[in-house]
Amino acid sequence: RPAMTAERRPGGEKRGFVEEMRSVAMKLHTRVQAAEGEMEARAPEEQPVEKWEPTLDGYLKFLVDVKLVYDTLEEIIDEAAFPTYAEFRNTGLERSEKLAKDLDWFREKGYAVGEPSAPGITYAHYLKQLSDKDPQAFICHFYNVYFANSAGGRIISKKVTKEILDNKELEFYKWDGDLSHLLQSMRDKLNRVSENWSRDDKNRCLEETQKSFQFYRDIPEIICR
Ligand code: HEM
Repeated sequence: RPAMTAERRPGGEKRGFVEEMRSVAMKLHTRVQAAEGEMEARAPEEQPVEKWEPTLDGYLKFLVDVKLVYDTLEEIIDEAAFPTYAEFRNTGLERSEKLAKDLDWFREKGYAVGEPSAPGITYAHYLKQLSDKDPQAFICHFYNVYFANSAGGRIISKKVTKEILDNKELEFYKWDGDLSHLLQSMRDKLNRVSENWSRDDKNRCLEETQKSFQFYRDIPEIICR
């Protein structure tokens, strides 16, 4: 396994703290979600993505909740209660405006776009509170929410595009510029910022990973369990 990871992660031996964040996150995937996953799937909801039968209503509800979460993350970064947050402005990974366009598209098509529901509201509230008191713990959520969308998110995207969106590709899964470069710049930034964190800071950050997975697990309509 270590050899596989090293092969897949260009940049040599000095991979920094992001590699630790990634490793904790990968273990929290189920085996059906990702090869490195170590969580048992708890049947019957946790089938492989291929067996998931998404509904448009359910998916739309997910987008509304997820938009609230990205709105919140991006506001926190903009306001920069801690100077570290300002480093993460304009990464090119921002999703708030993209999701706003997608929701407009659904409205134009005549779909009822509702209000955020409990999982999104609870998580957004949690993020806001956490960001005011513990930047290291907050950065964990920041990392996981953006990276989740780029990997698992795109697996979901392919499926919903084909099966429920009549091949409409959502803005949520489009980036201005090369995604792998944007992700790599984000990794570099995370590594730089975390360089002077104590081991305690780093552990508090890693321990939050579970909670960002929990948000997705709390959304009943989506397969990410
Ligand atoms: C990476 C699948 C949900 C966070 C990945 C990878 C896959 C995957 C295939 C790529 C592994 C590789 O590098 O080869 C999925 C699926 C999900 C899901 C199918 C649900 C349907 C989540 C959730 C989170 C998350 C809920 C966190 C909130 C991450 C992170 C990475 C990752 C941080 C590492 C990305 C990177 O290093 O580029 N996921 N995932 N994923 N996922 Fe997920």
